[in-house]
Amino acid sequence: MILFKQISQLQQALAAARNENKSIGFVPTMGALHQGHLSLIAQSKRENDITVCSIFVNPTQFNDPKDFEKYPITTAQDIQLSEQAGLDILFMPTVDEMYPNGQQLATPYPLGRIETLLEGAFRPGHFQGVCQVVHHLLNIVQPDAIVMGQKDYQQCMVISKLLEITGLPTQLKLGATLRETDGLAMSSRNVRLSPEARQKATAIYKSLTEISQHITKKDIITLEEEATSFLLKNGFDKVDYISIADAVTLEPVTKPVKDQQLVVLVAAFIDNVRLIDNLLFSFSS
Ligand code: PAF
Repeated sequence: MILFKQISQLQQALAAARNENKSIGFVPTMGALHQGHLSLIAQSKRENDITVCSIFVNPTQFNDPKDFEKYPITTAQDIQLSEQAGLDILFMPTVDEMYPNGQQLATPYPLGRIETLLEGAFRPGHFQGVCQVVHHLLNIVQPDAIVMGQKDYQQCMVISKLLEITGLPTQLKLGATLRETDGLAMSSRNVRLSPEARQKATAIYKSLTEISQHITKKDIITLEEEATSFLLKNGFDKVDYISIADAVTLEPVTKPVKDQQLVVLVAAFIDNVRLIDNLLFSFSS
């Protein structure tokens, strides 16, 4: 594995690979790598000749400065895990390397409706920051494919929109959410949970499966309300949203129709840590 911190050196190495007609897969991350990230790297390695992974905790996508300050950094372990995963290139730029002219976004991305829903509503500016950094990284790496985890379902939709807006020729590939044996979705933020909160956090997956199993038996509002009180009774401090939505548009669904693809998405706080998760299912009455 080669580790680059400078854009120019990374680009030189990638130009050489491209000259040899090698396909490039790209996995953007903010580090604190876990099995979920490693499965995306494995997917990229299966589908491409060369895999690049970036580790960059992007300041412009944090609407809450405390969340940015507390974001876990495990550099030595990340390098070791990347190497063990057989990664070809690890890119770890500094903030100055990524934003030499400041972090201000010149023109907002016209993301449309998707930016106003769910994460977009609760984290103003978040998706603009995500697009800013991913756009920059895509211009640097110029990959054939970008591989992203479905755990951040709305983010995947936003990146799909970014690719449409920019016309970049990169293909978006999605990787399934990896879960711990008790159902908790793997996330870099999980390391910030106390052992007690970690145990209680399993309530998220329970509430998602409960909704998917009862979708034909109860109405949507009841399901969302029951899931919210289940989380609050089981140790969560605050629920930003639990939303049963159309899997293609993310619009809230009031009356699902036969065979409609649905996704239930949740964001909730436990132990001052904000966790998100989602589950895809179809409505079959
Ligand atoms: O999902 C993440 O870790 C980040 O939002 C991403 C895509 C690496 C951009 O900073």
